[in-house]
Amino acid sequence: MTNLNSFSSKLNVVVIGANGGLGKAFVRAFEADDKVNSIYAFSRKIKVSENKKTHYSSIDIEDEESIKQAVELSSSDKEVDLVIVATGILHKETSIKPEKSIAQIDPHIMNKVISINTIGPILVAKHFLPKLTRGEKTVFAVLSARVGSINDNHMGGWASYRASKAALNMLIKTAAIEQKRRHPESIIISLHPGTVDTQLSQPFQKNVNEGSLFEAGDAVNKLINVIDGLNVKDTGGFLAWDGSSIEY
Ligand SMILES: NC(=O)c1ccc[n+]([C@@H]2O[C@H](COP(=O)([O-])OP(=O)(O)OC[C@H]3O[C@@H](n4cnc5c(N)ncnc54)[C@H](OP(=O)(O)O)[C@@H]3O)[C@@H](O)[C@H]2O)c1
Repeated sequence: MTNLNSFSSKLNVVVIGANGGLGKAFVRAFEADDKVNSIYAFSRKIKVSENKKTHYSSIDIEDEESIKQAVELSSSDKEVDLVIVATGILHKETSIKPEKSIAQIDPHIMNKVISINTIGPILVAKHFLPKLTRGEKTVFAVLSARVGSINDNHMGGWASYRASKAALNMLIKTAAIEQKRRHPESIIISLHPGTVDTQLSQPFQKNVNEGSLFEAGDAVNKLINVIDGLNVKDTGGFLAWDGSSIEY
């Protein structure tokens, strides 16, 4: 069984943030996909593999050296066909809470959110994009969020998270333009997974409309469908779980 019909076979796949709600679900979906030959799954806390295709190893995307090590590990035998960046932060215990107003902005918190949500993923791109397989479809996808759309911001609030994802989308678009010149078959994309039942959304789920909270496995299946349908003309885009384009 495969949900990656548009790719060649024997895929070497990388998941960054493999211990998160969505990251874990991506690893599970790739383990079940016959076209995927190997999965390099990176997270801060290393897990023990229960599947012979999956190799767990550590990464901290705020540490560029650990990103370089992840690249060496995952591309030593074969170039990489698909990279998913599923890391991110919205809140942390009592130390980080999304702002309700501009008056609540704390530069230390804003720096941390941008460091994890914006700088980390583009450093991952910096080191992984040159390792994508040449001459066939490859995808580098980051999980962004619809609230990072400037045009779609009608409610305010969550300033650091919104800004971090808006900046991430800009960096992805910039990387895609560059990549088109030197590696035209690769697709660089920002994806919005919908509102998904993970620890990240947990404190905010009471505001979600009935039927709009996805289970992680379900959201990942939808995102893999979107990834499978991607074409080079989509590179640099910002797409939702249903394949619709989101305005920057
Ligand atoms: N859930 C939603 O409703 C939703 C909606 C829109 C967008 N998204 C986006 O989807 C992505 C995944 O979110 P999720 O819902 O799966 O959240 P999650 O369960 O909290 O997973 C996020 C993961 O990011 C990892 N991470 C944070 N900082 C890191 C660092 N410096 N180095 C390496 N890993 C780091 C965390 O690792 P630890 O386990 O070590 O803390 C955690 O496993 C995020 O970018 C989020 O913004 C989610």
